[in-house]
Amino acid sequence: MTTITLQNITRRFTDDSGQSVQAIDDLSLRVREGEVLALMGPSGCGKTTLLRLVAGLDQPDSGEILYDQTPMAERPMEERGIGMVFQHGALMPHWESERTIGFFLRLRQREHEVPERVRRISQITGIGMEALMTRRPNQLSGGERQRVAVARALARDLKLLLFDEPFSNLDAHLRGQARLELRRLLNEFPITALYVTHDQDEAVTLADRLVIMNHGRIEQAGSYRQLYDSPVNLFVAKFFGHPAMNFFEGEVRDGAWHGENFGGYPFRRDLPDGTPVTMGVRPQYFHLCDGGVAGVVDSVVPYLSERRNLVTVWLGGERWAMALPMGADTPRGATVYCCIEREFAHFFDAETGLRIG
Ligand SMILES: Nc1ncnc2c1ncn2[C@@H]1O[C@H](COP(=O)(O)OP(=O)(O)O)[C@@H](O)[C@H]1O
Ligand SMILES: [Mg+2]
Repeated sequence: MTTITLQNITRRFTDDSGQSVQAIDDLSLRVREGEVLALMGPSGCGKTTLLRLVAGLDQPDSGEILYDQTPMAERPMEERGIGMVFQHGALMPHWESERTIGFFLRLRQREHEVPERVRRISQITGIGMEALMTRRPNQLSGGERQRVAVARALARDLKLLLFDEPFSNLDAHLRGQARLELRRLLNEFPITALYVTHDQDEAVTLADRLVIMNHGRIEQAGSYRQLYDSPVNLFVAKFFGHPAMNFFEGEVRDGAWHGENFGGYPFRRDLPDGTPVTMGVRPQYFHLCDGGVAGVVDSVVPYLSERRNLVTVWLGGERWAMALPMGADTPRGATVYCCIEREFAHFFDAETGLRIG
């Protein structure tokens, strides 16, 4: 297995209007041996560019990519053992030509193991891979194409697998299934992998560690719990976790946070009065309570995966989204009294966006 180290990688492009685009901006990252790392971030933040650099399909303007301890450039393509699975299922177009220039020469000695692996993959996924593998792509459905691409990559005993939103074109049901299959396959055939996805559930299911990117930089890397419980800044807090976190503008007074409509939560005595602070609260951390802040229910939407209702409440010009137990009596138009679980509130410097409590 393989460790990939990116050191201060920069990649610029020139767009159609001649403007320079900083696709990757001084980015450093280590993908540990056998780790599945999920890359997430808004469209255009540089995820695909990063994968292409790691695959050796593109070169950084500056910085270095190490493959184990060796600079990528010094490793011949056929020794890298990199597989890529893209949105549309086909392995890289360069795959075939690589094969012809000897990509598998070194692996040939183990070629006899491939049928057994395919059999095992069929067993784990419950899909007759042998039959699928001999069909041409146009004879396969979208879901089958993706599975064949994954199976083929795993059967070849590669060192590094790169995935670029491989299941995003599948419908939700099939996507959920494919994701679980891939998790089981990765348990059986551990391999270092970088996995780009839009889907947070997918990232959490598949990855050991998650990386949130923005504008070609890493905002935060960590486990699901670290990102969810301790987002380092407003960007991560807004991007990660669903349903989305609520944010309230406010300031510090007398060692407490005060918002526009409620407040008084003890907070950072060391900060001067008047310091602007944004409070973030996930919808799960509200409850109804006597003496809480009064608001009027605006909408109630079932949130089945959590067996809760997502209840939106208007409260003096602010809108709160709360995930309440399904049995709670909160019809539209009702006045409800809401409390925040203070220990689960996040506080951010309103100017820098950085977490401060
Ligand atoms: N070959 C290219 N030429 C010009 N601009 C590019 C090229 N590839 C990527 N970009 C730009 O770099 C940025 C990052 O793109 P990309 O890595 O595809 O983002 P993502 O995969 O996160 O959506 C975008 O602004 C994109 O327009
Ligand atoms: Mg992309």
